[in-house]
Amino acid sequence: MNLVITGANRGIGLELTRQSLTRGDTVHAGVREPAQARELTALVGTSGARLHVRALDVARDESVHAFAAALTGPVDLLINNAGRRTRTDDLEDLSLEDALQMLQVNALGALRVTRALLPRLREARGAKIASLSSGLGSLSDNTSGGGYGYRMSKAALNMATRSLAADLRGEGLIAVAISPGWVQTDMGGASAPTQVSESAAGLLAVLDRLTLGDSGGFFDFRGQRIDW
Ligand SMILES: NC(=O)c1ccc[n+]([C@@H]2O[C@H](COP(=O)([O-])OP(=O)(O)OC[C@H]3O[C@@H](n4cnc5c(N)ncnc54)[C@H](OP(=O)(O)O)[C@@H]3O)[C@@H](O)[C@H]2O)c1
Repeated sequence: MNLVITGANRGIGLELTRQSLTRGDTVHAGVREPAQARELTALVGTSGARLHVRALDVARDESVHAFAAALTGPVDLLINNAGRRTRTDDLEDLSLEDALQMLQVNALGALRVTRALLPRLREARGAKIASLSSGLGSLSDNTSGGGYGYRMSKAALNMATRSLAADLRGEGLIAVAISPGWVQTDMGGASAPTQVSESAAGLLAVLDRLTLGDSGGFFDFRGQRIDW
């Protein structure tokens, strides 16, 4: 299987890449700074020609177009993993500029990459587009407030997922929003209950099982549906 994973240099994206390579997939790993992505590029040694590390800033049109132009052949699975979350994001301390950046990366970034890769996704049979969302993007689950920029960006990502599912269903493409759980990464912090290896394994297992009937859904890394 041919995968594209964005934000693959650390956290969940790095682990998704590692596990996908271990099971024999080919991965096109998009990272902002390839020269700094040492843990990722170290995997080239063990995976040979199946790992391609390429520059990709999902917030910049030129970068996304250059990334897409370098790809040939079908892409079976696109994982829009790249994400950003600022620590100060509550009513009194949030910066609207930071909120705009989160929207730019978390919502528009995923849409930008998906749109640029459509020709590659259409070349595959029943390609899947999985966007890493969060329970914090659920409208119905928000009774605790706060987290304005991040919550709004993930809610916008969820809406983009619904439109992608509707627009692409007729062509057999599947689009879902999927939450990795609360995971021990730079973003999730050390007290998160889920190890990155468990989250990534769960995500890949859920994505493997998806059918067209699941398109437009919002799932967690165990395959349970999340309310919008
Ligand atoms: N960890 C959790 O508990 C949790 C919970 C729910 C959802 N999520 C979602 O899961 C995804 C991965 O999270 P994580 O915990 O692995 O986060 P992380 O450790 O903070 O890693 C974020 C990744 O996204 C990349 N990134 C940020 N902005 C980018 C851009 N403009 N272009 C390309 N890449 C960019 C980062 O690259 P740089 O190194 O260059 O910054 C990094 O590789 C995110 O979408 C996040 O919102 C995480």
